[in-house]
Amino acid sequence: MDARNLLRDPRDRRLPRVPDPCALVVFGVTGDLARKKLIPAVYDLGNRGLLPPGFVLLGFARRDWGDGDFEQLARRAAEQHARTEFRADVWQRLADSIRFVPGSFDEDDAFDQLDKTLIELEESHGIAGNAAFYLSIPPVAFPTVLKQLDRTRMADSRQRGGFRRVVVEKPFGHDLTSSRELNKLVDTVFTPADVFRIDHYLGKETVQNLLALRFANTLFEPVWNSNYVDSVQITMAEDVGIEGRAAFYDAAGAGRDVLQNHLLQLLALTAMEEPVSFDAESLRTEKHKVLKAVSLPSDLDDFTVRGQYEQGWLGGTRVCGYLDEEGIPAGSTTETYAAVRLGVETRRWAGVPFYLRTGKRLPRRVTEIAVVFKRAPHLPFAHTDTAELGNNQLVIRVQPDEGITLRFGSKVPGSAMEIRQVSMDFLYGAAFTESSPEAYERLLLDVLLGDKTLFPDHVEVEASWRVIDPLEEFWHGRRPERYRAGEWGPHGADEMLAREGRTWRRP
Ligand code: BG6
Repeated sequence: MDARNLLRDPRDRRLPRVPDPCALVVFGVTGDLARKKLIPAVYDLGNRGLLPPGFVLLGFARRDWGDGDFEQLARRAAEQHARTEFRADVWQRLADSIRFVPGSFDEDDAFDQLDKTLIELEESHGIAGNAAFYLSIPPVAFPTVLKQLDRTRMADSRQRGGFRRVVVEKPFGHDLTSSRELNKLVDTVFTPADVFRIDHYLGKETVQNLLALRFANTLFEPVWNSNYVDSVQITMAEDVGIEGRAAFYDAAGAGRDVLQNHLLQLLALTAMEEPVSFDAESLRTEKHKVLKAVSLPSDLDDFTVRGQYEQGWLGGTRVCGYLDEEGIPAGSTTETYAAVRLGVETRRWAGVPFYLRTGKRLPRRVTEIAVVFKRAPHLPFAHTDTAELGNNQLVIRVQPDEGITLRFGSKVPGSAMEIRQVSMDFLYGAAFTESSPEAYERLLLDVLLGDKTLFPDHVEVEASWRVIDPLEEFWHGRRPERYRAGEWGPHGADEMLAREGRTWRRP
């Protein structure tokens, strides 16, 4: 056991635990996700003393590489993208435990070699058969890799004597049917309890804080319902384009890429009932209920919007349109923007619209949940312009400038009784000295610890596809509306809210 563990009182849940010695096997180490998120997160965990001494990072990819080549790639990734300061001594400790196995996914020999390497690591690093396999690969390759893990019995924890877990990146399938097939395959290769479906939004501090805000306070819960809430707006805006992921993105579009997972998870956490405790099972029970209660508008034409960016200006630079991005087929009708009005058919939310929107090449990167309250039923102030006063709003800013803002009316100093909207801000950066871990840091650590609290299960995934499938079907073959890069999406999105007398918040 790690000496740090011996010093800790295991009942003290404030201190992060350190996993048992183990290997993290990453498939697709040369991809963007591995270089920008996974490897840096491993480094950050090492830097925070949260990796066991017997930790091994094992890369697998189709490259004619040895351990040293992968170590160099990993070092560059950590230097460029880690959250915490790069320290040579921390790296040196990690570097000694970096291994690489070359091969392609359909090569039996390569997987036999991977198996052999894991067995050798029991001797050299004391990993005692513990391994987590991270599928950081295109979804089409999932079945091939899973079948290889099955063939070699690398997924069999009983036979290997330690834990064997698998991490599957979203999107899980591309519709309900394919996600069911994938779920079935994963759950037969691995024990279902060892399958970690990742949605990195759940690893974000601010997203977890939504639960603290709602359930640790008395102030908000009494007004968190249709008696007081007018509507909820959930926005995930990005200024980036498709960042070289043409093949993946053109097949997925905004609906499958983020609406099906990140945005619906944010909706679930905003709308769910209080779980009986903060454990995996209780949280999932509440999220299931709310996802099952999500309804689509009866008029999809009026209350869903798809957009595709065309060339425009962002941050003083001219950027090309989606159709001119490298690798995008001519005439593609894939959406880079999606907005929809959803309902939640429960007593708590009856009649409250949940407006979700997401887009690429919007003016800035911002994710927020805005709970918009009903207006005061009566205003006894003669000189107050109700339009200017607006609605009270509670805005949870997921990123950047993580925090919470409360917007409410206040008297303008002076002799007249004039009321205007003001903001009260809580900023993580100002309230806490600790900086927030990256989502992948938290989630990778949870995988190694075997804690599934922040991972959606297949019932949630299927419930989400049930929401998205009819939308995708409706959108199929239709041309998305155009919007200029650097603008807040297509006009149709504004018209959608205007139909109900509302406007989008400008984040
Ligand atoms: C990913 C999507 O899941 O989330 C990307 O596939 C998107 O298209 C990314 O850019 C955004 O993540 P974040 O954490 O930067 O908001």
